Amino acid sequence: AEIMKGSFDHFMQKEIFEQPESVVNTMRGRVNFDTRQVKLGGLTAFLNTMRRCRRMVFIACGTSYHSCLATRAIFEELTEIPISIELASDFLDRRTPIFRDDVCVFVSQSGETADTILALRYCLERGALCLGLVNTVGSTISRETHCGIHINAGPEIGVASTKAYTSQYIALIMMAVQLSEDRISMAERRQTIIDGLHELPSQIRAILEQDKALQTLAHGTLAKERSLLIMGRGYQHATCLEGALKIKEICYMHSEGILAGELKHGPLALIDESMPVIIIMTKDSLYPKVQTALMQVTSRKGQPIIICNDDDQDISPQSKTIRVPRTVDALQGLLTVIPLQLLSYHLAVAAGVDVDFPRNLAKSVTVE
Ligand code: G6P
Repeated sequence: AEIMKGSFDHFMQKEIFEQPESVVNTMRGRVNFDTRQVKLGGLTAFLNTMRRCRRMVFIACGTSYHSCLATRAIFEELTEIPISIELASDFLDRRTPIFRDDVCVFVSQSGETADTILALRYCLERGALCLGLVNTVGSTISRETHCGIHINAGPEIGVASTKAYTSQYIALIMMAVQLSEDRISMAERRQTIIDGLHELPSQIRAILEQDKALQTLAHGTLAKERSLLIMGRGYQHATCLEGALKIKEICYMHSEGILAGELKHGPLALIDESMPVIIIMTKDSLYPKVQTALMQVTSRKGQPIIICNDDDQDISPQSKTIRVPRTVDALQGLLTVIPLQLLSYHLAVAAGVDVDFPRNLAKSVTVE
């Protein structure tokens, strides 16, 4: 069936606004909010092998790679399995050692990205258990892996990936929760996460309601800038990288995601009163450290826009803020990414870019 934009101007915009529903579709039939349990049918037969593996290697490109980064900390915390995350091209370039007792997870919206497919075949040859986490049913990666999960986000048309990111993020969290179900010490943590997942759709809706304000912000001073730095740390580092990727892809503007902990090791030299900066500063255990980064920026006359929680009273009233509802630390990135998706969308429109089909890029890159 032909997919229509409906009342939206672009597929990307439609896909951003679909997220309250697409995240539910990813969880449907898998997360039981009453018993607070997760069951991914595609993994059941392989759970014991996975729990016994020496390590898990996540392999992906682009936005899909960022969803792996975003969930790594909670994955390691819940499962205590060492995780490495690889960009498919670099993984192949290094001829990375892979063994029979490794579990390799291939994350791809399309299931057709050449680099990721080649990495999959490389791991299959070496006897690893290979799992696919894909959106497109029947795609090469979904056919050639031993098992896996469909993220069920629905077709994504816009070249800049949005709803696939939030669905991949949730699928990875569901995987970690299920893998750790035999660990009693993690029971409370798992329950908090499942309760958090339950609140997500309404929290996403609340952020989407700020669309007009974000449009005004984009069409104001930001549209005239040549560069934009996005800073954060911990769970939010991946959000910074993903936000910067959106801006590069569709706004043709230089943007960089910066780990706030690395600020003093270089990026601080870029800061002055004219360098546009966004800081993600949500209330988790690293908040005080991000406050330090904020001070380092403001003391050099930077005037960052702060993405923070809606209940945050600690931020100076003079600061420009974008406020998002508060959730569990490990899920917060699902919410902070949404204003960045909207901001990049409006910046692209302001720049006159063909939002769904930016120059030089393809939705799925089927050549190496
Ligand atoms: C292309 C797209 C990106 C996407 C990446 C990986 O570069 O433009 O939006 O994140 O491929 O695609 P995949 O389908 O493997 O997730």
